[in-house]
This record gives sequence, C-alpha cells and structure tokens, in this order.
Amino acid sequence: MIVTLDGPAGAGKSSTARALAARLGWCYMDTGAMYRAVALMALDRGIPLDDSAALAELAEGITIEFRDGRVVVDGHDVSTEIRTDRITQATRPVADAPPVREAMKRIQRRMAEGMDVVTEGRDQGSVVFPAAALKVFLTASAEERARRRHCEETARGKSVSLTAILTAQSQRDEGDRTRAVGAMKPADDAIIVETDGLAPEAVVDRLVAMIAELGRP
Ligand code: DC
Repeated sequence: MIVTLDGPAGAGKSSTARALAARLGWCYMDTGAMYRAVALMALDRGIPLDDSAALAELAEGITIEFRDGRVVVDGHDVSTEIRTDRITQATRPVADAPPVREAMKRIQRRMAEGMDVVTEGRDQGSVVFPAAALKVFLTASAEERARRRHCEETARGKSVSLTAILTAQSQRDEGDRTRAVGAMKPADDAIIVETDGLAPEAVVDRLVAMIAELGRP
C-alpha cells in the first residue's frame, strides 16, 4: 500500500512522514533527499547542472538507499552533506530538469514495488503514484512554515532573520509551483491537511485514522 505526502517546505512533511512510517512499520521514502543526492553526486563528478541529459544518466546510474533513517548513495552515508545550503541550491536545477524527473519517477516506482510505503515529496500523489491508496497534501500558512524553519535554524546555531526566511521560502514555493514538469500541486483526489497549530503527533494520529478507514493496517 502506498501513502503519498506532498506539500511545501516547512509544512511538517518530513517529520510527519517519518513518524507515520515508523508508527505503521512501513518504509519511508524521502524523495527530496533523492533529488539532493543527485545534486551532490553531480557536483562531486563535475557534471554541469544545466546538462539535464547527463544528470538523468547520473540519477539512473547511482544507487540511493534509505537505511535506518540515513540516506546512503553508492554505499556512502550522505545524510548530513545533502542538507547543506550548497546542495539545497544545487538541487533546484536538478529537480527542474524534466529528464531527471522522468528518471526519478521510474526509480521511485521501482523502489516502492510490492512494499508498504509512506512517500514524501512534491509530486508523489499527482505524478509518481496516481493510484496511491491515500494521497495527502500537507500545508500550513507561510508565516507558520517560516516560524518553524526559523526555530530549526536557530536550534542549529544559525543566525537568520524571520524576514529572510519568509522571502527565501516564497521564492522556493513559487519555483516549486511553476516548474514545467512535476510542479507541486495536490492530486485531484488528495486530502488537504492544514497543520497550523497542530503538533506533528496530532497530524500523524489523523493520518493513521485515515489509513485505518481504508481497512489497513
Ligand atoms: O523536500 P526537500 O527540501 O528535501 O526537497 C529538495 C528539493 O527537491 C526542493 O528543491 C524540492 C525538490 N523536490 C521535488 O522537486 N520533487 C520532489 N518529489 C521532492 C523534492
């Protein structure tokens, strides 16, 4: 069974998807991490970020695994490295490239085959798994999302203003919404869940209840 969790950055997708998968004992697929991994390998190998054919070939040629909450590429743990600002920036052109998205769609479908999976991203319900048993689009107000990101950054010891975060966030949202292929949008049959003021556990409870209504687990 497949449950898709899409939505903008800061809506609480990652923590919700991870906790939901753990609660159900299912696999968790972090597709943002997969795009990040391709960007990291492209920089490592000197592949130009505007060479979409070479990027797609790279995506097809590497092995990305999720092991015990870590992201492992060709046997190396890249979990920390893919979260740096350098990689966040390099990931955008990678995720915008239609041939990379086609390759990712194939890879993600292959990874989920025959498994119970909670998959998280921007296009999982709308493009990659249109027949998923449950499609959720998690969202929250721009202010709430920026506030959460600000707390995270501050906790990491980074000094960055809320205004700067809001500005960068609206630029990212715009890019995600308007990309030619794989634009972030809820699938027609997605359930929209607003997470403003909701603790991650409360969101997970709600999703578990929705899955139980489907007759599983
Ligand atoms: O969710 P994240 O910040 O780790 O995602 C990293 C980048 O990948 C971000 O630019 C959005 C993009 N992305 C995408 O285009 N499609 C997905 N299914 C997941 C992420």
